[in-house]
Amino acid sequence: MAPTSTPRMQLFHLLVTDDIDPEGVELLRADDQFVINEQPTRPWKDLVDEIGQYDAFIGRSATRLPAELLKHASKLRVIGRAGVGIDNIDIAAATELGIAVINAPAGNTVAVAELFFGMLIAQVRHLARAFESMRAGRWDRGSLTGSELRGRTLGIVGLGRIGSEVAVRAHAFGMKLVSYDPYIPDERFELLRVERATSLDQLLGRVDVLTVHTPITDETRGLIGAAELAELKPGAIVANLARGGIIEEAALVAALKSGRLGGALIDVYGQEPAVADHPLRAIDDALLTPHLGASTAEGQRNVAVDVCIAVRDALKSGELSGAVNVDGTFGASWTEYRDAILLARRAAAVARALLADRQARAVDHVTLRVGRDLADGVGMLVAAAAMGVLEGVIEGERLNLVNAKARAEARGIALAAMTAVGPDPVHGVQVTVRSGGREVCVGGVASPGGTPRLTRIDSFSVDVAPRRTLIVLGNADVPGVIGRVGTLLGEAGVNIAEYHQARLTQGGEALAAITVDGPPDARLRQRLLALPDVRSATVVNFGDTEHGREPAWS
Ligand code: NAD
Ligand code: MLT
Repeated sequence: MAPTSTPRMQLFHLLVTDDIDPEGVELLRADDQFVINEQPTRPWKDLVDEIGQYDAFIGRSATRLPAELLKHASKLRVIGRAGVGIDNIDIAAATELGIAVINAPAGNTVAVAELFFGMLIAQVRHLARAFESMRAGRWDRGSLTGSELRGRTLGIVGLGRIGSEVAVRAHAFGMKLVSYDPYIPDERFELLRVERATSLDQLLGRVDVLTVHTPITDETRGLIGAAELAELKPGAIVANLARGGIIEEAALVAALKSGRLGGALIDVYGQEPAVADHPLRAIDDALLTPHLGASTAEGQRNVAVDVCIAVRDALKSGELSGAVNVDGTFGASWTEYRDAILLARRAAAVARALLADRQARAVDHVTLRVGRDLADGVGMLVAAAAMGVLEGVIEGERLNLVNAKARAEARGIALAAMTAVGPDPVHGVQVTVRSGGREVCVGGVASPGGTPRLTRIDSFSVDVAPRRTLIVLGNADVPGVIGRVGTLLGEAGVNIAEYHQARLTQGGEALAAITVDGPPDARLRQRLLALPDVRSATVVNFGDTEHGREPAWS
């Protein structure tokens, strides 16, 4: 019996830091493919000399990952962020370098919402002063009368995951709710029984408590400044448990000092850790916590487990459904997309190869048409098609689903996509590649549970699996061609896996799509072209591994 070779186990080296909860890390340690180096938080500059060893980085917000560090991360495929905020990572640089950034957006949502109410009640019931006075041996009952939340109006800026959990809990306290979030549909407001403010101004003058739960973006940096604070009712309380800078710190300090505000609840700061003499520290009505929003055992366990699973799946099987720098919303259906991704990539590679053999110039347009069941992942499928077109063309640069679109566009390739309507297969993928006015269309179907099939090359209907090596022959529809091609391949020791002969009209143009095992001899194409009635021959080597699987990362 011929000896069978087993694939060598690929090892992935991971740097884990920022005190990720052990339950997540254990999950990775239990897998022989992962070599974990767990370290305490270090300044990013200390990582420059070592980041190049790792396939993945997993951390929280304490470690910054700026472009200056990422450019040394030559092996890095994935950055896993145990938490939601990704403002410590240079996303543009990671994307350009083909590094997927995966966060864990949901696991600490409740922790933040609960802290908000903890702080709010502490503020309106003067709890900090009460604790302090008891410790000091006093009985300050008379001066510590507080107020209730019931009947007060809470203004929530940003009605996403955390804003929504805050809303749900605010109802339990009998609060009235108004929210400003231009990116959330009306139905969500209705479901949460929250009145919609159509502008920030519409909300500011009405609320007793204002809380922000947006990400920090160009739009939200300084969203609440001196002018907005001045719009608030006297005695209003403001809260920022989202990101430092959404409420301008200097303006907040001034408003608190003026006595107009009833207090501030602050968990996050423009610069963290907050400096020892931060002006907010000196203000009695500012209730401050050191970025504790997500710091519950449950929250940390959730985000650690979520991110470690996501990083594991990204490294081992190329799953990128949780990557913030990859287009598409995949939900739980990544396995369906995996085949469609392979099909888009290979269809594009076939189209590019056919154009190249027809002496076309560089590719200038790639258009993707997908069946309606693949519509959610169209962005990812465009990236796959861009990869297929560029593979073998660009060298020395990493190319993957994270950066393929940017790489293609940088080369002047216009990318477009559409979702098919009507009779197209619902799992169909069709790639049209154009070059200087000439174009080739290659399509197929990636039905769930089946093997992806190529079903169209140019105007010809075919049916072959795009695997190992595909030979596309153009020939005259005359007797004897198939026999001669078979004999030539047999004599060359090339085993045919599938042979699909197609024609448009009897005696006219014909096309054969032939898949063969293993990459054939480089001279095969010339020998095929020398056969009578063969007019064109294109050989596309898909580069599958010996065991029929494409590597998860290229
Ligand atoms: P999310 O993405 O679910 O929700 C954010 C919401 O903000 C979205 O609905 C979005 O439409 C809205 N938004 C964006 N720009 C806006 C604008 N200009 N005006 C109004 N609304 C806008 O995020 P999330 O998980 O709810 O997190 C919210 C914030 O909390 C983030 O900044 C996150 O980093 C932070 N966070 C802090 C802690 C902590 O420890 N304190 C923990 C977790 C999350
Ligand atoms: C988050 O973004 O998830 C929180 O701010 C907590 C953290 O920094 O880890």
